Amino acid sequence: MAKKEIDQHSGIETTGHEWDGLKELNNPLPRWWVYIFYACIVWSVGYFVLYPAWPGITGYTAGILGHSSRLEAIADVEALKTVREASAKDLVTASFDQIRAKPALMEFALANGRAAFANNCAPCHGTGATGSTGYPNLQDDDWLWGGKIDDIATTIRYGIRSTSDQTRVSQMQTFGPPPGGGDPVLKKDEIAAIADFVFSLSNPDYKAAGIDNGKKIFAENCIACHGEDAKGNQELGAPNLTDKIWLYSGTRDAIVAQVTNPRHGVMPTWDGKLDDMTIKSLALYVHDLGGGK
Ligand code: HEC
Ligand code: HEC
Repeated sequence: MAKKEIDQHSGIETTGHEWDGLKELNNPLPRWWVYIFYACIVWSVGYFVLYPAWPGITGYTAGILGHSSRLEAIADVEALKTVREASAKDLVTASFDQIRAKPALMEFALANGRAAFANNCAPCHGTGATGSTGYPNLQDDDWLWGGKIDDIATTIRYGIRSTSDQTRVSQMQTFGPPPGGGDPVLKKDEIAAIADFVFSLSNPDYKAAGIDNGKKIFAENCIACHGEDAKGNQELGAPNLTDKIWLYSGTRDAIVAQVTNPRHGVMPTWDGKLDDMTIKSLALYVHDLGGGK
């Protein structure tokens, strides 16, 4: 160890370290620093006593306050549950208008609806609810069975052509050859003419010889459900045939196929599978996607 000496210039002891003739003075640490250092030691002792601190082989020193972030999280979850239960009760008893008038309750319903949609509806309607062939887009304002909040709630609760005895139901009949054999309602060339007419409704520039005849056959066979103006009927789930929005496809071939041998889309019933609160939340969520009436 280097020998200690007093620096002649300043009168302060040196540490004995020397570099090329430069010597290090052994100045004491500033007072304020030392006090903070002692305060930290005192504080840490208090902390060890009060809070969990030292790890052991099988556990840890818990501290006399018994604090644990896990317990804190459990308490938070419990508090959240209480708030949720109150909101859930409100959702079941309030009318749609009352829910909409309360921003906090509406926000709760939408969050709840969004989660339930991802779990139950997205497999068919898509995560963004934009649908795909045979599965309607729920974001647009084109509705098969109605876009008012009560219509949507009914559709969700009882389904479409579902197993519920209160299901929405209607059946476009087969105009081509019946499955069991026999005469078709409409011959091939009549169906072709109808397809020309229906196709022309959303494609005004389309010209075909069959359109005029198709219009007549349409009036005789189709308006009961699709309406005189072909704009559909939501009581029967009959789509608007004049817009560019198609449940199946808008090609002329697809129209021929639908008339010859129609498809009957099925949407399951959620009555009994989802509780009232969830069905209401889903109706509000779907209505709020943008297309609600
Ligand atoms: C198994 C597939 C499937 C699932 C799951 C499903 N849907 Fe549907 N949904 C359909 C089909 C198919 C239709 C259209 C039926 C038809 O042709 O009329 C439909 C129609 C609808 C309609 C009516 C749209 C309109 O234009 O009137 C709404 C609303 C709807 N679904 C909401 C939901 C919600 C909310 C859920 C989740 C709770 C859900 N669907 C789950 C298949 C499904
Ligand atoms: C009994 C009522 C009814 C009659 C009559 C009827 N339809 Fe339909 N039509 C429907 C329903 C309901 C749907 C929706 C089917 C579904 O949701 O799967 C539909 C769907 C269609 C579609 C598919 C639309 C799309 O968006 O993909 C076309 C095209 C169509 N009908 C044309 C006709 C034509 C043409 C006639 C007359 C020859 C006719 N329909 C007669 C009830 C009817």
